[in-house]
Amino acid sequence: MVFKIKSPANIAFVKYWGQKDHQNTLPFNDSFSMNLSNCYTELEFEVLEDVLIREMEIREFKATEYKKATEAEMNKVLHFYTNAKEFLKVTHDIGFRIKSSNSFPKKAGIASSASFFSALALAFAHAFKKELSQKELSILARLSGSGSASRSIPDGFVWWHAGSDSESSFAESIATANEWDIVDMVLVLSGQEKKVSSADGHILATTSPYYVKRQEQLPTILDTIKTAFQNKDFTAFGTAVEQEAINFHSILMTQQPPLYFWSNKTIPCIKDIVNQRQNGLEGYFTIDAGENVHLLCQKKDITSFENYFKAQDYVEDIIINYACEGAKVV
Ligand code: PMV
Repeated sequence: MVFKIKSPANIAFVKYWGQKDHQNTLPFNDSFSMNLSNCYTELEFEVLEDVLIREMEIREFKATEYKKATEAEMNKVLHFYTNAKEFLKVTHDIGFRIKSSNSFPKKAGIASSASFFSALALAFAHAFKKELSQKELSILARLSGSGSASRSIPDGFVWWHAGSDSESSFAESIATANEWDIVDMVLVLSGQEKKVSSADGHILATTSPYYVKRQEQLPTILDTIKTAFQNKDFTAFGTAVEQEAINFHSILMTQQPPLYFWSNKTIPCIKDIVNQRQNGLEGYFTIDAGENVHLLCQKKDITSFENYFKAQDYVEDIIINYACEGAKVV
């Protein structure tokens, strides 16, 4: 049996950082995100009778050829395979051959682990012929070790409930993709891979002296952003999302050892977004665990922003995303 899966990355308006249970990838806080229509992973999954064959090839962003996955990459897949079997309550094994390709640079703050592991969660469920609800699939995706993968399962705009245990920590859609045509314009400043993974970063989040303060503030931040979203109040929404991004990075920069994901291109880029806004072109930034910048804007302003940022020599690529459906067998 061979089948294909397509699954999007997502950008969190309110980010999850820090885990109360590393084994089960249980976050301290709820998070809220949007699936990204043009940043996705496509998996071709072949189920094999020979259980000794477990292989994966990856085609990176802009590469023309597939390359064998590294041992570290393969180990993560195999670890997830073991968790998936347990979750799906299957006792038999399968062999598999995976071909994975990405429409965007990986490990650069554009949630490549979310798109990949959500796709793989759906692939394992499909390969073992299990029909899961979206809630169950999002839990399974979370058990990959990439928590944000759970948010790439449901459609459109997605809320991940932190929950108190594995059963209650799941993601669900709170609005369909066409509910609001806001745009996430990813300004790719560099396709370079980051040196510290989010998984390693989460473990040390609570070493920041500001971590407790962030957790205290988060219920209000989540509420403000959700209300602005529901009212389609772009100014209130963008303002709060931008502040939340700085709040999030202030934890990263003050945990021990600190994580400085920004590069010398990130600051000019965010300053330009702020300047453009002061000149009447309304956009807001958010930055994930990487140096690249996500510019949130309204559909009517795409061309103006695109023309402006194409002319900046610190921008390597621009990827325009709308909200979209979650992981699907295609
Ligand atoms: O998906 P993980 O468990 O590797 O964590 C990544 C979390 C962030 O991308 C940094 C923030 C978020 O909520 O998307």
